Amino acid sequence: MALAPTSENGNADDRPRIDRPIVLVGLMGAGKSCVGRKLAESLALPFLDSDNEVEEAAGCEVRDIFEVYGEPAFRDCERRVIHRLLQAGPSIIATGGGAFMDPATREQVKSHAISVWLRADPEVLYQRTKRAKNRPLLANEDPLQTLKDLAEQRYPVYAEADITIDTGNEGLEKTLQKAIDALKESATSDKTS
Ligand code: S3P
Repeated sequence: MALAPTSENGNADDRPRIDRPIVLVGLMGAGKSCVGRKLAESLALPFLDSDNEVEEAAGCEVRDIFEVYGEPAFRDCERRVIHRLLQAGPSIIATGGGAFMDPATREQVKSHAISVWLRADPEVLYQRTKRAKNRPLLANEDPLQTLKDLAEQRYPVYAEADITIDTGNEGLEKTLQKAIDALKESATSDKTS
């Protein structure tokens, strides 16, 4: 499948070699962008962020796209952008929290990438997101309840990801190490199956 346990020059290497995109999924505040950036550095791969790419394509920020054009227009653009990013070879792609909920995007991810769900409790996500003002879905009276509702709707779908990593209040380095270990394990089990 996607991973090989040796480096480019054939030497044993502690890093899994990746031959397709790794797509990070999960709710807002799960750490997709932070972990993704670090993972990309560790694996010497390009880092791509679907929200940033959507903003670049649309020429405005995500919250403005929601406000001016509406969520369906955002989802449309997000689907097209992710489709394009998946064609660009091995990379680490941090997706917006709703991206994997789109059936077409999910199918694309399943056939072209390794998906990794960063799972966290809504309370943890709330603590991480409560100060930022850039998430339209959380700009309401009770963002914690919104995160709980979204977790209920989305977690069964995120669970379709190839790899699930539990992240609590641990530091970034710990989550990063878990991700690298899970990718290595996935490479090994793939080799032996
Ligand atoms: C969304 C998550 C956001 C962004 C948009 C919608 C969602 O990305 O795509 O505000 O539906 O969960 P992050 O998960 O990176 O915050």
